[in-house]
Amino acid sequence: MVSIVISGGQWGDEGKAKITDLLSEQAEYIVRYQGGANAGHTVSCQAGLFKFHLIPSGILFSDKICIIGPGTVIEPSFLLKEIENLKKQNISLKGLRISQLAHITMPWHSALDKATDTVGSTGRGIGPTYTDKAKRAGIQVKDLLQESSLRAKLEKILPKQNQTLRQIHGLPEYKLEEVCQEYLNFGQQLQPFVSDTLNELFEARKSGKNILYEGAQGTLLDITFGTYPFVTSSNPVAGGACIGAGVGPTAIDYSLGIFKAFSTRVGDGPFPSEIHFEDENAVKLRQDGTQWAEFGTTTGRMRRVGWFDAVLARYAVRVNSFSGIAITKIDTLDAFDEIYVCVAYRHKLTNEIIQNLPHASADLLSQCEPILQSLEGWKSNTHKATNLKDLPPLARKYLDFLSNSLEVPISIVSTGPDREHSIILKEVFCYSNPPLKRSRICE
Ligand code: IMP
Repeated sequence: MVSIVISGGQWGDEGKAKITDLLSEQAEYIVRYQGGANAGHTVSCQAGLFKFHLIPSGILFSDKICIIGPGTVIEPSFLLKEIENLKKQNISLKGLRISQLAHITMPWHSALDKATDTVGSTGRGIGPTYTDKAKRAGIQVKDLLQESSLRAKLEKILPKQNQTLRQIHGLPEYKLEEVCQEYLNFGQQLQPFVSDTLNELFEARKSGKNILYEGAQGTLLDITFGTYPFVTSSNPVAGGACIGAGVGPTAIDYSLGIFKAFSTRVGDGPFPSEIHFEDENAVKLRQDGTQWAEFGTTTGRMRRVGWFDAVLARYAVRVNSFSGIAITKIDTLDAFDEIYVCVAYRHKLTNEIIQNLPHASADLLSQCEPILQSLEGWKSNTHKATNLKDLPPLARKYLDFLSNSLEVPISIVSTGPDREHSIILKEVFCYSNPPLKRSRICE
């Protein structure tokens, strides 16, 4: 029995789905633990190209149990569309499970998200849904399955929401009866997948199954540890897997961090190693000539790009306690004469050199300028390499440089979008906790 948590070390879009897909083969359970339809995952394999927002990409394997966990937020019509699309692509949904405890993104959440956004959000209602969860005014999956429960909650919640929508934002109101019927209908369609995921996970652990906890977004978008306030509203860090899935810290054996070989960010907020979007290096990083070019899977927005930031990455290693990391998209750097890495910051006011940040808040980062170190580019092809020996010496040197800067081993190098385009340096499914045993106190 091995449980691994996969989380992003940067601002999301690190290639987590590709690595999750690669490791899913060895896992029996895959659990998404936070976030909602703000996430966008693309997986390329022999069966085709698949885009995921809420459903764990492990669903591509017909024998896996894929859980949308209690810490997630669900927009039902969006999830149903995702289910429909997978069915059309002949993917079996028999392994899909949805937690009764996940919160529902209601139509006013998306409307309010768009009306009040100050951070360049995805507009998917994520912030307002988590806000209502924290205000104890949320609607959960289980409420969609019981008319009396949904009606009672709507009677309490909707008048206040309508008042805010109309009086503060000049937005249209929602009619209780219409919302109630529409969401009961969603509940009916989702019911076959709704289950007691807590018990199912407990039983899975008891019977020694391998479990993969799959994070969305990334450490620097974490509501506590990210570049606050330019963050999402949940905890993408590895620790979020415990609260988002409903397991304790002893349930996790290995924390795998995913980093792109350079940096990208969608939306507003600080990005110390950013390259101006018109700079030829930025254009080269963004457009690598494939469907994996740097445009958001969810919003289609152009991603901001920059050099690898080892200061923020070291910070991510610490707050996630990464046991190992995966470096993705190394092949995007194949054509560069010189590659830069941000190795430290200079504080603009005090001139202090900072190597280890106390936190990553936007205030602090706005006072920091990057100190870049140049490394010689390898100027040869690493695309689709499957063996360390196939990498040119300078590419290996770059990887060693990252590993040394972050003080963490590299477990996987990704050299292209497909499962096969991977160099496995360390089998991560080999750490193991002993299965749970009962006490024997009586003689
Ligand atoms: P929200 O999660 O939609 O509230 O957006 C908050 C911030 O997180 C915005 O800057 C988004 O662009 C960013 N964000 C949210 N989800 C993702 C993701 O999956 N990848 C990259 N950025 C994301």
